Amino acid sequence: MLKKTRAAITGVGGHVPDYILTNKELEKMVDTNDEWITSRTGVKERHILKGEGQGTSHMGEKAVRDLLRKTNTDPLEVDMILCATATPDYIFPATANLICDMVGAKNAFSFDLQAACSGFLYGLVTAQQFIETGKYKKVIVVGADKMSSIIDYTDRKTCIIFGDGAAAVMLEPDDSGNGIQDSILRTDGSGLPYLHLKAGGSRRPASLETIQNREHYVFQEGATVFKFAVTNMAGVAAEIMERNNLTSDDVAYLVPHQANKRIIDATAERMGVGGDKVLVNIEKYGNTTAATIPLVLWDFEKNFKKGDNIILAAFGGGFTWGSCYLKWAYNS
Ligand code: UT7
Repeated sequence: MLKKTRAAITGVGGHVPDYILTNKELEKMVDTNDEWITSRTGVKERHILKGEGQGTSHMGEKAVRDLLRKTNTDPLEVDMILCATATPDYIFPATANLICDMVGAKNAFSFDLQAACSGFLYGLVTAQQFIETGKYKKVIVVGADKMSSIIDYTDRKTCIIFGDGAAAVMLEPDDSGNGIQDSILRTDGSGLPYLHLKAGGSRRPASLETIQNREHYVFQEGATVFKFAVTNMAGVAAEIMERNNLTSDDVAYLVPHQANKRIIDATAERMGVGGDKVLVNIEKYGNTTAATIPLVLWDFEKNFKKGDNIILAAFGGGFTWGSCYLKWAYNS
């Protein structure tokens, strides 16, 4: 019997900007301390994109170039680039279009997808469908966010968590049984009041008043979001294991969204997965929104072996959340 053609990740690229904002540095900016930030979130430092006129596409371009180099891909072969971001360079055109132009992917079409911290997961599952139709052979999913462009560095509740970064994966057809096996995606729009950007969209366009009220920065009711994140991210991660008959022994790695180390620990506990199987790099980058999951794949790529069962899980603004079960498709 012919095996189903699945979409498989065949390479990972990444980029974080040079400037590192440490907890010590933040102590000089707001009333906080390294001990509080480390114990409540797990973050030690985050990378910040400095420099006039550089937006999310700047990091996305570098991540995609890294991916093209590592996979030895001619940009003209790329069929599609999907950029997941909550901080696009412009409301329009799409940041993915800018990245396409920057890397010379002249035969690709491109678009952005916005699902906040679940953006990469939503993007991956969207891109999977294009591969599975058989029409598209090389699809790139980029998760990229310049969170520093929407963070209020006088608000100690939010500025300590977020950072900037980008990472990208190549998706290609795989007939060997590896690749994306299953996914669960969820949305609950009633989460709006707890995590959003108050102004700058069509409901409340930018004005002198919105600027004076500091409404162009992330508003987050942290403790509420935390509770929803723990329940829902852990819930879908456990559900995807159950419905694929996976025990904790079957799972090689959990790749969770990096929002808070305590949310990651709760998810891992619910799945019964522990130790080195739980991949964490939040201490280096903080919460880079759509970039967290691919940045983990980028950092830990060498650990993965062909056939490894990997569970991705995310939760973010919207609310959006989900999980994805994949079998890793290559040895690096
Ligand atoms: O990425 C996807 C979506 N986002 C998330 O998943 C984030 C979820 N939320 C969180 O990670 C946590 O809620 C935060 C890290 C944002 C905050 O941690 P928390 O433990 O929930 O703190 P809290 O907001 O309940 O505040 C507890 C106390 C407060 O003091 P009082 O009122 O009890 O005296 C805060 O003012 O901690 C205080 N606090 C701080 N103290 C030192 C808040 N931020 C800081 C800070 N330094 N940076």
